[in-house]
Amino acid sequence: MNIAVRYYSRSGNTKGVAEAIAKGVGVEAISVDSEDSKINEDVDVLFVGGALYAYGLDKHLKTYLSELDGSKVKKAVVFSTSWISKHSIDLIKKGLSEKNIPVEEEYFYSKSAPTDAVLKEAEEFGKKMAV
Ligand SMILES: Cc1cc2nc3c(=O)[nH]c(=O)nc-3n(C[C@H](O)[C@H](O)[C@H](O)COP(=O)(O)O)c2cc1C
Repeated sequence: MNIAVRYYSRSGNTKGVAEAIAKGVGVEAISVDSEDSKINEDVDVLFVGGALYAYGLDKHLKTYLSELDGSKVKKAVVFSTSWISKHSIDLIKKGLSEKNIPVEEEYFYSKSAPTDAVLKEAEEFGKKMAV
């Protein structure tokens, strides 16, 4: 099973969730602005996360989604953090669907900074969804 975790995080909240999910599935969480973030090999499960800023996604994540090779991704799972709105989940799912990537309905969400308990849940979520 080939699993990848990609995220964009301005202030660390989404990064924390990404790293917890990555820990659960035994891979490294990679920021989409890193050179290593490109999906070059087929992946079975791609976890993708980002936060909501002024009711939109950060441009780094938008660009990443628009450049993703959908033919290499069997399935995607979304995660996000925000103050209150879960619109980021819809926006990320939409970006993935536009690449014809099947997206799991279930997602992981943390209200602002994840607590230790939320990070533990994220780790378990990763394990559960990486099948
Ligand atoms: C400039 C800015 C705009 C934001 N706009 C929204 C928003 O429209 N709705 C919302 O629920 N949260 C909003 N937030 C809250 C962030 O989504 C939240 O703090 C998130 O956890 C940040 O994730 P990060 O630390 O991974 O960057 C905003 C935060 C900032 C800094």
